[in-house]
Amino acid sequence: MADGANIAETWDKASIESLFDPATGRLDRRVLSDEGLYRLELERIFARGWNFMCHESQLKDPGDYLVSYIGEDQVIVVRDEDGQINAMLNTCRHRGNALCRAEQGRAKSFVCSYHGWNYGLDGKLIGVPGRSTFYHNDLDRSQLGLAKARVESYLGFYFATLADEAPSLHDFLGTTGRTGLGMVCAHGEIEFVEGVQKNVIDCNWKIAVDNLFDWYHVPYSHASADAAGFFNISKIQHPKNQMVMLGEYGHAIGGPGIPQEMQDRIDPLSDAERAAMSSAAPEGSPRIRPQSATSLMGTAGVRSEGHPNIFPNLWITISGAQICLRLPRGPSRTELWWFTVVPKDAPARAKREMIRRMNHVFGPSGLLEQDDGENWSQSTRSARGVASRELGQHIQMGIGHDQVTVSDDGEHIIEGLISEHGQRWLYRAWTDWMVACDWAELEANHALPPTGVV
Ligand code: FES
Ligand SMILES: [Fe+2]
Repeated sequence: MADGANIAETWDKASIESLFDPATGRLDRRVLSDEGLYRLELERIFARGWNFMCHESQLKDPGDYLVSYIGEDQVIVVRDEDGQINAMLNTCRHRGNALCRAEQGRAKSFVCSYHGWNYGLDGKLIGVPGRSTFYHNDLDRSQLGLAKARVESYLGFYFATLADEAPSLHDFLGTTGRTGLGMVCAHGEIEFVEGVQKNVIDCNWKIAVDNLFDWYHVPYSHASADAAGFFNISKIQHPKNQMVMLGEYGHAIGGPGIPQEMQDRIDPLSDAERAAMSSAAPEGSPRIRPQSATSLMGTAGVRSEGHPNIFPNLWITISGAQICLRLPRGPSRTELWWFTVVPKDAPARAKREMIRRMNHVFGPSGLLEQDDGENWSQSTRSARGVASRELGQHIQMGIGHDQVTVSDDGEHIIEGLISEHGQRWLYRAWTDWMVACDWAELEANHALPPTGVV
């Protein structure tokens, strides 16, 4: 962490705290462009946090693996012979070569292409060419297994962290994070479609994250999708029925919400009645969730039709049909990984139709993200200009006009007009993570979800 120590001299606590003012919503544009801040993010946010790796349905059998990232550290995520999922740094302990070159597949073990060291699915070093001859039996293989990350799961979603002292995944997610993942499974068992769609956008990763709370841009940025008849903005945006939920450590959910009085009419209905209501609703309306969804999402969370973000970078789209990782690749580059989710028991033909439709929503061939990506990359570019970066960004919508309510199950909710509360919560949490030297400091000093007027 010596690198971080040097950067921390440039970016001390006071200078990081000066970058975002939650009281006015002014954001210093260097947050989106500074190389030093970016390197500090890799250490203090990505290496420290719980990073989404995969869903259990992607690694069904022993030997199934995929290569993912914790920040810019590549990890092999693999199911071993005992059925455990391991996340191990994809770097050979001999001379550091990348061990696994394929993005995903099935393996019996991992053999390094440089000198042939061989590692088991649990990361143990099981084979070294020339161990008794060239190495004279001196090599202690027990000390040279692959470096492992901590792995924990919730509802079949696997996360990894490089921080031994991080709280459990369950505690890290808190109510809001668990509600967000619950949204994906709210209609029943799911599976991830094989393959991940990957593309790169020249933007800072945070602007791609904060946009998911931004329902202000929808009628402007996506007017062409509406005009083409691809979707009907008035059916999905609900600008006066917005619901933002703010959770610990930066998790949040933002977007349309079902008003309480409407939910009160849904609650007594059986699942069959709900399904009949969904079928009768205009095309494109969200499906009414079954009764069991309340145990996954809570009494307040079940009313959300918005977008959850699991801090820092896991976006769940409305109703959980697509999931995206915004992976950092430098202050001005983000790699987007799109996962498509389908109901496990749906007929093959229905799954194909869902996949076809999702391919046209978000992702590299999606209509919506082409609009978004262009705006994000130009906002990032202007954060590099000597004069333009001085101007700051203004994320002030709704300040002082909204009341937080706290549900029985502990969700902190803001309901009303479109606002920028979700975006501000992200940068506030970002500040907490960036100034804390370790987990103890982060746990002691992070902002708790607000109450009262915000
Ligand atoms: S670098 Fe992997 S075996 Fe030498
Ligand atoms: Fe958008």
